[in-house]
Amino acid sequence: RRRIGVMTSGGDSPGMNGAVRAVVRMSIHMGCEAYAIYEGYEGLVQGGDLIKEMKWEDVRGWLSRGGTLIGTARCMPFKERWGRLKAAKNMILRGIDALIICGGDGSLTGADLFRSEWPGLIKELVDTKELTQEQIEPYKHLNIVGLVGSIDNDMSGTDATIGCYSSLERICSAVDDVFDTAASHQRGFVIEVMGRHCGWLALMASIATGADFVFIPEKPPRVGWEDQMCDIIKKHRSRGKRRSIVIIAEGAHDENLKKITANHVKDLLSNKLNLDTRVTVLGHTQRGGQACFYDRWLSTLQGVEAVNAVLEATPETPTPVITIRENKIERSNLMEAVALTKSVTAAIEARDFDKAMQLRDVEFKE
Ligand code: F6P
Repeated sequence: RRRIGVMTSGGDSPGMNGAVRAVVRMSIHMGCEAYAIYEGYEGLVQGGDLIKEMKWEDVRGWLSRGGTLIGTARCMPFKERWGRLKAAKNMILRGIDALIICGGDGSLTGADLFRSEWPGLIKELVDTKELTQEQIEPYKHLNIVGLVGSIDNDMSGTDATIGCYSSLERICSAVDDVFDTAASHQRGFVIEVMGRHCGWLALMASIATGADFVFIPEKPPRVGWEDQMCDIIKKHRSRGKRRSIVIIAEGAHDENLKKITANHVKDLLSNKLNLDTRVTVLGHTQRGGQACFYDRWLSTLQGVEAVNAVLEATPETPTPVITIRENKIERSNLMEAVALTKSVTAAIEARDFDKAMQLRDVEFKE
């Protein structure tokens, strides 16, 4: 019986457990065995107890749970060839030749590299007498399927990543809470949200909460933005607003790529507008917690599709990533999606912000 491994990697995101549950149950449903790889790539490298067969009931109640119950880690050894050699050996010893990985673009790129190296790795294991030719014979090809788990919604080629809507819900609810206290004291608040290179969380949250101003990495404010922001906030105040909210993505910067910090924005509101202003950094509360409906639904459908993709793959099939586009679950080319994602970061670094917005598929009118 075919053995399929499932792993979560990179930063956790709500819905990862739903994905693992779906992969485990769909694998069993299709007559395969499912194996959870604990602690991300660390589990592959170390093997032993970190690779565990999962039965149907082992994932009961996982759908709503936040974080990742099989753990995740940033694994340095897997970045080295010797680490990947150990991983390949562990997989063959456990009879696993297919891996479904839920993680961000970095984790999925590592998986694709592992797949491309696989023939060389298993040959080396035989050459060094770690394994015999008979042992590697049934496992000539490694199958990899990616699922995108990230709260940042930062992968191109998919409308949503697993976890982004749960995180957005938490941000909106936190901003609503801040509104109450801000309005009571007529204060200003600068709220920092996650999103290293991607302003999706900040942008969506600012629309959904009616914030006064937003900073995102893809569309930095123009020179003179300090006065522009203050004028807008002053105008809102003159219309009777009792609180002023600015949302800032953690990766925000100006047109020269100089970081804009929440404290700098706070000082502007305090000094230029005389507003009693506080900074709230939402931090990791955005990442933990229950998965919302959308992430439960998305992770389940994508987990099922990932198993289908494993079972239908041929050695020639480029590594797929399961995406959602216009509400349809699809299989896309993983490395094409990664390349597109990287091109957004490259456009930002080259200060071509119009291109960055275009690549994000956002139409922006001032
Ligand atoms: O990858 C998602 C993310 O939430 C980023 O927005 C943030 O910069 C990062 O993770 C923080 O991760 P950690 O604290 O685990 O290094």
